[in-house]
Amino acid sequence: MKALLEAVQPGDKDWELAQSIDPSRLPAHIAIIMDGNGRWAGRRRLPRVAGHQAGIGPVRSTVETCARLGLKVLTLYAFSVENWKRPRTEVETLWRLLRYYLKQELPELQKNDIRLQAIGRLDALPAQVRRELDAGVEATSNNRGLLVNLAINYGGRAEIVDAVNAILDMARLDGSIASLKIDEDSIATSLYTASSPDPDLLIRTSGEMRISNFLLWQIAYAELYVTETLWPDFTRTDLLQAILEYQKRDRRYGGLSGGTGRRPANGAARTDETLIEALRSS
Ligand code: FPP
Repeated sequence: MKALLEAVQPGDKDWELAQSIDPSRLPAHIAIIMDGNGRWAGRRRLPRVAGHQAGIGPVRSTVETCARLGLKVLTLYAFSVENWKRPRTEVETLWRLLRYYLKQELPELQKNDIRLQAIGRLDALPAQVRRELDAGVEATSNNRGLLVNLAINYGGRAEIVDAVNAILDMARLDGSIASLKIDEDSIATSLYTASSPDPDLLIRTSGEMRISNFLLWQIAYAELYVTETLWPDFTRTDLLQAILEYQKRDRRYGGLSGGTGRRPANGAARTDETLIEALRSS
């Protein structure tokens, strides 16, 4: 958080936003569905791939701001298992952009102690992309700052299927298959994101109210934030606004305000008890 305040000067348009953020209530993990590249390009009568290219800048600035805020994890949805349905030239451009990003940003990631990881069915990536991705992951593996998860050839359902199959494979290997019982813990620890806390805040750009098969298991209690801003226009201001909105939310995890699970701060519990009593005696 201190590093963010150093980067924002009084008079800067983000100064007040940055000052308003409560450093003790930051999300540990932000996940982002980076949507709207095609529409951004369409509005400018440019080819769709120009939108993807313009999406690199916000990736860079979002990674920088999350690192400066001292967040633990940022997960970016870069390519879904369904994205193979797009024209071949668009898919190839996305691979080229990923390779460009890795090459350009590696020194900056190293300088800022940022660790890179990739989640998804990575075996299906073109060999050259996979090699360069693995090299980036390996080169940053000892960094201890922000973890950036790039979701590539990722699908939430595919991830759960892969997790269950990994559990079954392990049980076959160690001979425990006959008595195997799967529970929430065994699935959570077999997901691609096993070592990360679940996302606290899920941001989607470009206004669509969909989850699009992203982190289906992990977002069970995430706060959702949808902005009309198209991804290529997503700035530090948008990110800080999303975090401020997150800090206004009352996260109850299925319980009640205040975390006691019983009495809301406004004393309404007494009314509830009176009502329950009335129902019992009726
Ligand atoms: C969705 O917009 C975006 C994608 C499928 C690709 C996201 C890729 C980038 C932001 C650039 C590269 C990323 C990295 C991490 C280097 P869309 O094409 O579905 O937009 P539309 O809904 O307006 O058509």
